[in-house]
Amino acid sequence: MVAGPSPAPATDMDNQPIGVLDSGVGGLTVLSEIRKELPEESTIYIGDSHNAPYGKRTPENILFLSEKLIQFLLDKNAKIIVIACNTITVNGIEKLREVFPKVPIVGTVPVVKMAAAVTKNKKIGLLVTEATAKSAYNQNLITTFANDCDVTIVGTNKLVPLIEAENNKVLPKVIEEELAPFKEKGVDTVILGSTHFPILRSMIQDFLGPKVVVLDSGGAVARQVRRILTNNNILSDDIHPTHELYTTGNVAPFSQIAKKILKDKFTSVSSVVLE
Ligand code: DGL
Repeated sequence: MVAGPSPAPATDMDNQPIGVLDSGVGGLTVLSEIRKELPEESTIYIGDSHNAPYGKRTPENILFLSEKLIQFLLDKNAKIIVIACNTITVNGIEKLREVFPKVPIVGTVPVVKMAAAVTKNKKIGLLVTEATAKSAYNQNLITTFANDCDVTIVGTNKLVPLIEAENNKVLPKVIEEELAPFKEKGVDTVILGSTHFPILRSMIQDFLGPKVVVLDSGGAVARQVRRILTNNNILSDDIHPTHELYTTGNVAPFSQIAKKILKDKFTSVSSVVLE
């Protein structure tokens, strides 16, 4: 038997962290999938809870804030940037790739293609923020991948602030009001088109009933990160990876949510002010 070539030894670059960003705590749902898919990778996460929700902001303002988040992650030596936010991705990923041409940038978009493959009655519900609902990118996803489906879009900015504040008393009522159009239309598949919404998965599933399939983007993003790291030959082989979390908001509520989503596994949580 002939032995295959031995893998190239890891370089410093390979063990640099994956940088992940979001407007707040939502991207932690994507980070959790990335960590399952790539357990040897170190990660750095920044959530801009101070400025959330981004869903009520203009594309120009979203871009302005996102550039600071990416620069923060690059200053911490991120080898790849993951925009764990649909609102930022659909409103600015092309421009962000122009501003930061040297680093690979992976985005998060609603899994419209997957939903079109899953739905049996061709009725899909798409739950997004208002800024995502208004974007041409989102509309384009629907015409490209779900042209033969009846897609009911709910664009809402009511849920994200309640998730950031962990207002679990009010959330079931707001879910009932905001997601009512999905029930009225009889959709059999719902896309969670904000990374904050998987935090509400069980409340949303309770409201929609067990027969409705609820999809999110986390797993697909994590697999895409693996593909890019593999293609660029920058996978880590670190047996002691670190996981740093940063928030522009208050540390206490942020770490409470992070503990639930990441099951307590992270190295540090710090508050940061971005100039
Ligand atoms: N996590 C963001 C997303 O995926 C939420 C946006 C917001 O801050 O409004 O769209």
